[in-house]
Amino acid sequence: MTKNGKLNIDALTDFRTGRQHRSIYTDAEIYEIEQERIFGRCWLFLAHERQIQNPGDFMRTFMGEDEVLVVRQKNGSVKAFLNTCTHRGNRLCKADTGNKKSFVCNYHGWGFDTSGALTGVPLEKEAYYGELDKDAFKLIEVAQVSSYNGLIFGNFDPEAPSLEAYLGEMRWYLDIWLDAMPNGTALLGETMKVELPVNWKFPVENVSGDGYHLGWAHAGAMTVSSSMSLSGMTVSNSSVDNSAAVSVAGLNGHCVLSSLDGVSGYAFYPQPKIAVDYLEQNRANVAERLGKVRAEKFWGSQINLTVFPSLQLLPGLNWFRVYHPKGVDRIEMWTWAMVDVDMPNELKEMILANVARTFGPAGIFDNDDGDNLQACSELSNGRQTRKMNLYTNMALGREHSRDEMPGVVSDGLICEQNQRYYYRRWSELMRAENWSDVPVYNNLEEANKTLWV
Ligand code: FES
Ligand code: FE
Repeated sequence: MTKNGKLNIDALTDFRTGRQHRSIYTDAEIYEIEQERIFGRCWLFLAHERQIQNPGDFMRTFMGEDEVLVVRQKNGSVKAFLNTCTHRGNRLCKADTGNKKSFVCNYHGWGFDTSGALTGVPLEKEAYYGELDKDAFKLIEVAQVSSYNGLIFGNFDPEAPSLEAYLGEMRWYLDIWLDAMPNGTALLGETMKVELPVNWKFPVENVSGDGYHLGWAHAGAMTVSSSMSLSGMTVSNSSVDNSAAVSVAGLNGHCVLSSLDGVSGYAFYPQPKIAVDYLEQNRANVAERLGKVRAEKFWGSQINLTVFPSLQLLPGLNWFRVYHPKGVDRIEMWTWAMVDVDMPNELKEMILANVARTFGPAGIFDNDDGDNLQACSELSNGRQTRKMNLYTNMALGREHSRDEMPGVVSDGLICEQNQRYYYRRWSELMRAENWSDVPVYNNLEEANKTLWV
């Protein structure tokens, strides 16, 4: 995939045929460009507002491979800093979360307040003769931090579009969870961290659009955990009901996979009645907030929401996950249970236990996926396989629009449209010198207009 001895990004994927060259999962040079052009300029999830509610509350997390501290300020705003001391580069804070008035480095004792200012330098007068310009040694701040309905995001690129513009029409789908209930959402429990020897794109593409594997890879897990008759989740290996679900993409890289029955999100719970009662008690109120289509077809359905490049929310199964790349063949997946604040405690407890049972470190679904995805990644690294292509060409050309929902729509969960649009966005960003080169589209017409060859 080189042209005149240089990496040819244009040739790595082909949206029209659904082709991906396997080197995108293994090549160190491509991975380096991803860190700059994708993780260096997309909006990345930092924390939920409720995880850092009080001044001085902080979370330690990652943006791409860079470690960052997300800190609630005295005035209620949020800042994020690279978690590195500006003296000799030590890790400034080792704790994952907590509350601080200041961050003091373990190496020589420099201290920074929560706004990032350097406020304490041991022996400042004697060692620096009182001449140290402390302003020049502030913590390095993430260029943009912004929130959307409870979720805080950061962006290293000062030229990036606003978070609202970046999310675009995807907000219509995100609000099905984030804005359905008056008091919004919260993440429950500790961060569940799993390390996997896999390229970061394989697990994201899997959840973004791969309904095909459910009835096969998860056949066992679905049989033991499914407790409802699943009109919207007819995904066995022998039949497909395409009328009961949709794949939605063309949302600037963001994707949605959803059943349309309003209950099947809770099909994989031992006692779904508690959840179904909650849904029916509140559905009329949700309709007032979000309108009939979202309240009746989407709210309560199993929905996979992907915010490009590496955040996924699954209302219904109620897990929330961010993927941190750790090299071309390694990731850390961070997972939480996410609930509506207004849910009864009994339901919240059930959700937390069910996330651990299905998609936690020992989760029955996650272990099916981990094994397959690890192999897809490893097997892309052979001398011959690294020259090959893979395809996401299922239901190619079946994309259409629907008046009642934004985006490019294909019928059913078993379809690879979303992966094609996901990789199209990947390519658009990888080839763009800056944000003004990146096309914007939110529906089929706009997507076709900006189609490059
Ligand atoms: Fe932090 Fe020296 S490296 S004070
Ligand atoms: Fe899976």
